[in-house]
Amino acid sequence: MKKLILDLDTGVDDALAISYALGSPEVELIGITGTYGNVLLDQGVRNSLAVTDLLGHPEIKVYKGLPHASAADSFAVGEASAFIHGENGIGEVTIPDSNREPESEPAIDFIIDAAKTYGKELIYVPTGPMTNIAAALRKAPETADRLGGIVLMGGALTVPGNVNAWTEANISQDPEAADYLFRSGTPATMIGLDVTLQTLLTYRETQRWRDLGTTAGAFLADMTDYYIKAYETTAPHLGGCGLHDPLAVGVAVDPTLVTTLPINMKVDVEGPTRGRTIGDNDRLNDPVKTTKVAIGVDVRRFLNEFMTRIAALAQAAG
Ligand code: BDR
Ligand code: CA
Repeated sequence: MKKLILDLDTGVDDALAISYALGSPEVELIGITGTYGNVLLDQGVRNSLAVTDLLGHPEIKVYKGLPHASAADSFAVGEASAFIHGENGIGEVTIPDSNREPESEPAIDFIIDAAKTYGKELIYVPTGPMTNIAAALRKAPETADRLGGIVLMGGALTVPGNVNAWTEANISQDPEAADYLFRSGTPATMIGLDVTLQTLLTYRETQRWRDLGTTAGAFLADMTDYYIKAYETTAPHLGGCGLHDPLAVGVAVDPTLVTTLPINMKVDVEGPTRGRTIGDNDRLNDPVKTTKVAIGVDVRRFLNEFMTRIAALAQAAG
């Protein structure tokens, strides 16, 4: 059975990514590593613990990652993130705090150890900045060959960014880390805005969760409605909210949900286009392509899987 680690800045779509993973019998979620972005590190860790409890899975361990991109700076949540995910990251919905604490092992060591233990069975799914995985690869470069692969949510190759015309939020928070990951040679599939803005959810679907009559269903519906409402302001042309992070989990479970372009990627780390995800000129003629960028998605099949899996989970959780 495939093992997954989710690396989350637990906001609304990250919580939906947890739900998708827990609702997928084909994979075992062996742990969540915490990062920063939609919320500060500690709030994200708090959310991951509380959400896994609420969804009936208190056995899922949560590990604390790095609080920001480098020791030389600090991180503050952007206004746009707080608007889209709410100050608490989960759409201002109040759920009980878990009585569990994060594990004492740091996220980076957990990632390195898990790659040793599970090898090719292990898929690592970062849906925030790539800070933790870049640190793990720097500390133990052999992790790149050990892992089964990485399915990352981030970047935009064929469409504009969502922070500015060329950069996407997860990449913009730590362009150096994403660049390091792409150039490390780790097999990675990039699930960027190219595809995640094609997989949209509306109030019609969240009502189905509410209609289950369970606490978990009501939580998922209320949290996601907040996110859909924010999208009505930030991207009214879409007619729904982007299922960014759950799509990355969906592809980790079933790679046939997307069509991909094999290409060696890099991230611009200097100059006016800092944060741009683009093909790496230096490796253009290298016959070995280490990254696949998703450029097409079977929207109907994904949405159907998304709804079926999460509804079953929210029903069982009560
Ligand atoms: C990404 O940024 C965050 O707001 C979301 O959780 C997602 O991972 C989309 O650009
Ligand atoms: Ca995220």
